[in-house]
Amino acid sequence: INSSWGKSVSSLKPTRHVPDRIHAREHSGCAVSKQNICGKCIREPFGLYSCNIFIYIFTFQTVLTCMVSVLSTSGNTGMSVAKTTVDKLLKGYDIRLRPDFGGPPVIVGMSINIASIDSISEVNMDYTITMYFQQSWRDKRLAYGELNLNLTLDNRVADQLWLPDTYFLNDKKSFLHGVTVKNRMIRLHPDGTVLYGLRITTTAACMMDLRRYPLDEQNCTLEIESYGYTTDDIVFFWQGGNNAVTGVDKLELPQFSIVDIRLVSREVRFTTGSYPRLSLSFRIKRNIGYFILQTYMPSILITILSWVSFWINYDASAARVALGVTTVLTMTTINTHLRETLPKIPYVKAIDVYLMGCFVFVFLALLEYAFVNYVFFGRGPQQQKKINERLNKANNERPRYEERRLREQVDAYGNILLTTLEMNNEVMPSDVGSSVSDSRNSVMSFDSSGVQFRKPMAPRDGFSHHSLDRSAMRSRANCRLRRRSSKLKLKIPNLADVSTIDKWSRVIFPITFGFFNLIYWLYYVN
Ligand SMILES: *[C@@H]1O[C@H](CO)[C@@H](O)[C@H](O)[C@H]1NC(C)=O
Ligand SMILES: *[C@@H]1O[C@H](CO)[C@@H](O)[C@H](O)[C@H]1NC(C)=O
Repeated sequence: INSSWGKSVSSLKPTRHVPDRIHAREHSGCAVSKQNICGKCIREPFGLYSCNIFIYIFTFQTVLTCMVSVLSTSGNTGMSVAKTTVDKLLKGYDIRLRPDFGGPPVIVGMSINIASIDSISEVNMDYTITMYFQQSWRDKRLAYGELNLNLTLDNRVADQLWLPDTYFLNDKKSFLHGVTVKNRMIRLHPDGTVLYGLRITTTAACMMDLRRYPLDEQNCTLEIESYGYTTDDIVFFWQGGNNAVTGVDKLELPQFSIVDIRLVSREVRFTTGSYPRLSLSFRIKRNIGYFILQTYMPSILITILSWVSFWINYDASAARVALGVTTVLTMTTINTHLRETLPKIPYVKAIDVYLMGCFVFVFLALLEYAFVNYVFFGRGPQQQKKINERLNKANNERPRYEERRLREQVDAYGNILLTTLEMNNEVMPSDVGSSVSDSRNSVMSFDSSGVQFRKPMAPRDGFSHHSLDRSAMRSRANCRLRRRSSKLKLKIPNLADVSTIDKWSRVIFPITFGFFNLIYWLYYVN
């Protein structure tokens, strides 16, 4: 400003006060020693005059500036006092020594405001939390009485002050946010209390027990400890008691809800001494909704789908096998997808139990068809064919077959022989007379072949009695024949049997599955 003022004054000067010709003349004969600061000869009346004006103006300007600065100084007293206060506080401050060195331990109060819990990972067994972490302690060296103000200082001042060596015991990776400047705060209070705040994101280990996954509750902790100072030097406490941790109700976790939060303060012993430790633990409950939609519902539907097979005709093997195999594969896929999001833990999880259950049901539905198929197309028809063949043979070569059977039975069952023989002969012809003669013939023929009969031949006169006897025997034989044929039938599974397997499956499978679900949910949901 000064130079521009000077310039403007000197540029105005020739036009306003000094004629051009005089100006030119003056410059010609003037010793350098006699020139004043304006570069004009002192002798020159006009030159002296113009230069004096400049000096007056300059002086006035200086006085003005001086007055302004005096005025402004009186307005900024606070700043200068604060400056001198801070200067005084930091002067001779020894960062190496804790407050009250050699005296009682420093009491550090901690409080946390949770900004967010970003993720909870089962695979890595950890969780990531972003928080405002505040510590406050009293450092008498930093007390000031001149100002009744709390001094919030630039975060770089923190590097010049003693700070507690707090660390998170179970953190895997932590960082202090550094955009746009390091996210930390230092505030001094007149009594020497220091409030030191940080915005930290930390990934802390949280060992999870996944036995009840996904119907589980986890207990994750954040352990805060002093790294170097023992309890002789430093003591931690939760500032505000149970209200030391805030922001929990505002947290929104996609998969969990926070059930409980607990703050604990204790001492832990190591070989180097006992250290103060604070722990924050939260009990988180997994929300089942996601798993109902992504795992349970599909599994249930796939299992139900596998039962459709029981309603499909047993000879539609293509349809039933395809259905069975597809459902089995789908269950495998669901299982695989689930496994990707979980660590390789050795024990069985609740969801494994369910998926394995569904898998077994689906697999049994496929096996059921294999069984039906075997019974119907495998063993059953073969036996039936065999029996049909035997029956055909018997029909074609009836006399010879009967004869052979008779001969076989003669030795063992002498009594039966006659009746069977008679019955057979009786059944074939229609009229009784011929049958009688036939029977007599056959008896004769057997007689001639030298077979011995225990039963004496009936006398001719007792014909009527004989015929009565014979009718009774016939009915008995019929009974026996029927029984024998029924015995044969039992051995042959007929078509009705195959469909009953399906019919039973239609009932048994859903009931068992319902029962399985009941037990499962009762056991895992408290
Ligand atoms: C300084 O901070 C303390 C504690 O936070 C507060 O109670 C007090 O009102 C503050 N003083 C001023 C002047 O703001
Ligand atoms: C979590 O577990 C620790 C140690 O077993 C226990 O002290 C704490 O109370 C538990 N937290 C909750 C919220 O249950």
